[in-house]
Amino acid sequence: MRRSDGQADSYMEHPTDQFNRPLRDLRISVTDRCNFRCPYCMPAEVFGPGHAFLHDPQLMTLAELTRIVRAFRALGVEKVRLTGGEPLLRADVPDLIRVLKRDLGVQDVALTTNGWMLEKLAPALRAAGLNRLNVSVDSLDDVTAGKLNGLGFKVARVLRGIDAAAALGLPIKINCVVQRGVNDHELPALCEYFRARGHALRFIEFMDVGNTNHWTRDRVVPARELVERIGALWPLDPVGPAYRGEVAARYRYRDGRGEIGLISSVTEPFCRDCHRARLSADGQLYTCLFASLGWDVLGALRAGATDVDLENFLGRIWGGRLDRYSDERAEVLATGEPRAKVEMSYIGG
Ligand code: GTP
Ligand code: 5AD
Ligand code: SF4
Ligand code: SF4
Repeated sequence: MRRSDGQADSYMEHPTDQFNRPLRDLRISVTDRCNFRCPYCMPAEVFGPGHAFLHDPQLMTLAELTRIVRAFRALGVEKVRLTGGEPLLRADVPDLIRVLKRDLGVQDVALTTNGWMLEKLAPALRAAGLNRLNVSVDSLDDVTAGKLNGLGFKVARVLRGIDAAAALGLPIKINCVVQRGVNDHELPALCEYFRARGHALRFIEFMDVGNTNHWTRDRVVPARELVERIGALWPLDPVGPAYRGEVAARYRYRDGRGEIGLISSVTEPFCRDCHRARLSADGQLYTCLFASLGWDVLGALRAGATDVDLENFLGRIWGGRLDRYSDERAEVLATGEPRAKVEMSYIGG
């Protein structure tokens, strides 16, 4: 591992947490802002004009991100996903991708986006070395899509962005948050549309992230039900995970025309193999999507931590990690005591 301070390696081996889970993925929220207001993530009444978004100098700079990711690399991180908010709102994202690929040698650099700016930015992302994209599409119908993005935006522009990225050869997965009675009637249309274009479509169970999205259990469509409903139209066969700890359970259409994935954090939690750390745009490390508190990595860096100090700090945090919220959800909710959780737009999905 190359260092900026010339010090020797501190971590001889990669740390594992209290449940023996290694640290493999880093999800970086590059901004907490978004140009959508999806009610399940950033409800407009909460994230309105009065909301205090992060601003300079709270945000990590490119140079700071470089040092922080380098420390994560030393601890075993092989995959970096850029998220937000909406990551494409940050102008230096292509520069960051270039640093991750060229200077830090990250094998898998991915980005999760709502697709609104993709048509314009796909060439720059491709040129910077981005490996792949996940794009959110909850509905193909403008009325429903407009409700689900909170601002009445039509879906066609997102679909054009997906086509533009695909034409450049970027592998694409589609994320669809399913809510009963809201968009679950669109499952067949979504399946048809995306398998015709060769993109894996992943259905995400509506999750109780943050504190403001009015989550209720009856709006969750269990992954098992989704597989049954889709399988009744087009028979499906389960496929093993592409890598250990893959979030989505995959199924292939028996007719050979594509695949779907199920992200079942509510009904079939996958904490056992969770090897993901999350970094907020102001440089706080969260060891779970449902965490209440983060660790101030950026503060440590700005206070003068060397690269070795940073690695030791991160290694100690990961070594002490006990998070398994989705496994514990039922017990937590049964206590009736609301647990303050960070918002998903801040921490990165
Ligand atoms: P790949 O499989 O590598 O393409 O990525 P991914 O599925 O991890 O990334 P993506 O950003 O597309 O996430 C899809 C959905 O899975 C989002 O709603 C995430 O919040 C959810 N998700 C990802 N990781 C976790 C996790 O560790 N815990 C929970 N509960 N949900 C997660
Ligand atoms: N439940 C499930 N998925 C969510 N996402 C945002 N909020 C929620 C929620 N409450 C999804 C987005 C995006 C991904 C990063 O996270 O739709 O696809
Ligand atoms: Fe923005 Fe994505 Fe959240 Fe929707 S789900 S408000 S697009 S960050
Ligand atoms: Fe990982 Fe937390 Fe999600 Fe479980 S709930 S899979 S520990 S991020």
